[in-house]
Amino acid sequence: MIYLDNASTTKPHKELINLYKKGLDEWFVNSDSLYPLGVQLSLMIEKSRKIISELFYVQPQDLIFTSSGSEANNLAIKGLAFANRKNGNHLITSAIEHPSVLSSMKQLRDMFNFELTIIEVDNNGQLDLESLSQSLRKDTILVSFMAINNEVGTIFPIEEIVRVVKAKSKALIHVDMVQLLGKHPLDLTGIDAASFSAHKINGFKGTGLLYCKHHLNILPLISGGQQEFGIRAGTANSINNVLLAKTVMIALKQQPMALEKVTKLNQYLRSELKKIDDIVINSPENGSPYIVSFSHLKLGSEIVMNALSQKEIYVSSRSTCSSKLNTVSHVLSAMSKNDEVLNGVIRVSMSHDTTKKELEILIAEIKEVNKHVISK
Ligand SMILES: Cc1ncc(COP(=O)(O)O)c(C=O)c1O
Repeated sequence: MIYLDNASTTKPHKELINLYKKGLDEWFVNSDSLYPLGVQLSLMIEKSRKIISELFYVQPQDLIFTSSGSEANNLAIKGLAFANRKNGNHLITSAIEHPSVLSSMKQLRDMFNFELTIIEVDNNGQLDLESLSQSLRKDTILVSFMAINNEVGTIFPIEEIVRVVKAKSKALIHVDMVQLLGKHPLDLTGIDAASFSAHKINGFKGTGLLYCKHHLNILPLISGGQQEFGIRAGTANSINNVLLAKTVMIALKQQPMALEKVTKLNQYLRSELKKIDDIVINSPENGSPYIVSFSHLKLGSEIVMNALSQKEIYVSSRSTCSSKLNTVSHVLSAMSKNDEVLNGVIRVSMSHDTTKKELEILIAEIKEVNKHVISK
């Protein structure tokens, strides 16, 4: 199998799987139980939180374990918006956010009467900082932007966004860092809240993390328990939370080397794709090298994807959480792409262990698919 869908999810590290099995067997108790096993497990969770906080240069109380990146995004956006409404009613985000951000924002607008500005992007998926600056108001309480787009890899200039936002408002800044962690350098300077997800960095599904400065007011979305400082109730996903520290440690350690390696793979993949008839690359040149979105202008995504998957080459056509919706990509639409591009989109997303050989096989198979188009 050639797995090139790492923006969707990643294969857990063997080491983590072994620890997980052992954990399930030996540490099945509730981490809030007061007997020694429960107390020890609770201490292990707190140790994990502390290790991550040191790696992120934040305080342990700033980190809230969640079930996913989507939950972290929902908690940050709705929790901060509701708890800070006394300061204003205006929110800002971009047109190419992950659905868990966009739909949280739209829900706040449509059902709770918040005002929302959605900043458009250019055909590289890039934000216009001038229009962000003009959109900021005295009553803007929250802005949310992604660090790296999951469909095309556009990198938003978070440092500049922070500067623009702070120059013109008192708004809180949330950043969806799900596709950044372990792939690009992490810097939380000036950011009030950020979301992460374990399964994107060779950890386990069912574990996410919200960084949210502990002095901020945030409304719990799941209430009814003392867990996670009272901000996120529910019996802890103990083993996963404990193992998140190791997951993050491995990801951060391998990040610089992996970025260098994937940058070279990206250059190879792009140069080969450019040689193939009827293929256009959608990802911006200066985007994250981990994600290459391209379109076949004469074939629909399913045809190319089916041909590839018959050879056990796994790619996707867009964000997996929208893969079963019969709609075109909101990201490529916002980038003003035409119908051929929208219908023929393929996303290749690499990881630290992707090899050149795998990409060579991918390219050979795409050429094979193309031969059939020409012969028809
Ligand atoms: C940018 C981005 N944000 C949020 C998420 C949601 O993460 P999760 O799958 O953990 O809910 C994803 C997942 O694809 C993502 O790519």
